[in-house]
Amino acid sequence: MKILVTGGAGFIGSNFIRLYLSHHSDCEIVNLDKLTYAGNLENLRDVENDPRYSFVKGDICDSDVVGDVMQGVRAVVNFAAETHVDRSIGDPSGFLRTDIFGVHVLLEAAREHGVERFVQISTDEVYGVTTGEPFTEDAPMNPRNPYSASKAGGELLAHSYFTTYGFPVLITRGANNVGPNQYPEKVIPLFTTNAIEDKPLPLYGSGEQERDYTHVLDHCTGIECVMDGGEPGATYNIGAGNHMKNIDMARLILRELGKPEELIVHVEDREGHDFRYAIDSTKLRALGWEPSFDAEGAVLSAVRWYVENPGWWQPIKSGEFLEYYEKQYGKRLEEAGGTG
Ligand code: NAD
Ligand code: TYD
Repeated sequence: MKILVTGGAGFIGSNFIRLYLSHHSDCEIVNLDKLTYAGNLENLRDVENDPRYSFVKGDICDSDVVGDVMQGVRAVVNFAAETHVDRSIGDPSGFLRTDIFGVHVLLEAAREHGVERFVQISTDEVYGVTTGEPFTEDAPMNPRNPYSASKAGGELLAHSYFTTYGFPVLITRGANNVGPNQYPEKVIPLFTTNAIEDKPLPLYGSGEQERDYTHVLDHCTGIECVMDGGEPGATYNIGAGNHMKNIDMARLILRELGKPEELIVHVEDREGHDFRYAIDSTKLRALGWEPSFDAEGAVLSAVRWYVENPGWWQPIKSGEFLEYYEKQYGKRLEEAGGTG
């Protein structure tokens, strides 16, 4: 079975490709990725010579490239996206382009080529803030930043292809992922690598905000479950229920690394910061999915990976990253009395 994975050079896509190849001896995977700042072929060095795997550099918004790679494809898993909330606050335009228009280009080509399963990778952030019980899939969407609004747009469009054309779309809404190969703009690799370098951990606002820190391998087995057994037209939450406050996550990282808590610097909060995400994954568990990492296990296993792999993240924390870091944190840290 030939599968098109888009955005496979990123964090979750690369973990998914590795996992899927190891579980399905007879599959063929084509990875279409534009290689934005977040795409990194180092993430896939160990599979690049596997005859079942091939890479195409290209943009999901480019209908010519997408039409070419769709030849003979039976299933599509769309990971390709702009993904960082803080960057979306700075400039939403790239998010609208890839996370909405790109989904449209993929859906059109997939429909034309008779694709049998189209899995749109979405996020729990489309629900917005959870104040009470964890959200089930039928809760209304209430995205509150340009990233989550773009993702909501992309998945609504994908679902419309199911209701309008009967096209077999399945949607997953994953919680915050942690694990190997995550670009160090996201909080866990940022805090871990900063702490290793004795730099401040810029904690937004009070740090009382809460996320469900789900290990990327648990997210990937959830996606695999949906591919293999999910119902077309349905949406599945994928969260381990690993709820942790940001302040506790920061303290856990510092404790693991033997670094002082004084490295935590409370900086000006993110605009429109969603206080808490919590989702109910009962529907996915009914397909046989079980996460294997709890909250502390997920965070600590990620921390250890960055400790063991400085050769992966040190080159990334230069160039484009430094410009972004200065823009995002320079003034914040200065105002908070951190060293920057
Ligand atoms: P990432 O930023 O690490 O990787 C995104 C990948 O997409 C990169 O390789 C990039 O080069 C590629 N890409 C971006 N624009 C493209 C385009 N126009 N055409 C082709 N390729 C393009 O992201 P990630 O964390 O791996 O997230 C993957 C998917 O999972 C996204 O759709 C995201 O919304 C979703 N998701 C992420 C999380 C999380 O915690 N990281 C949680 C739930 C859902
Ligand atoms: P992030 O990794 O950006 O994921 P998301 O915003 O998509 O959930 O952030 C996770 C949490 O960590 C979120 O509550 C914001 C907080 N955070 C900080 O406190 N400081 C930071 O520098 C970053 C990047 C995030």
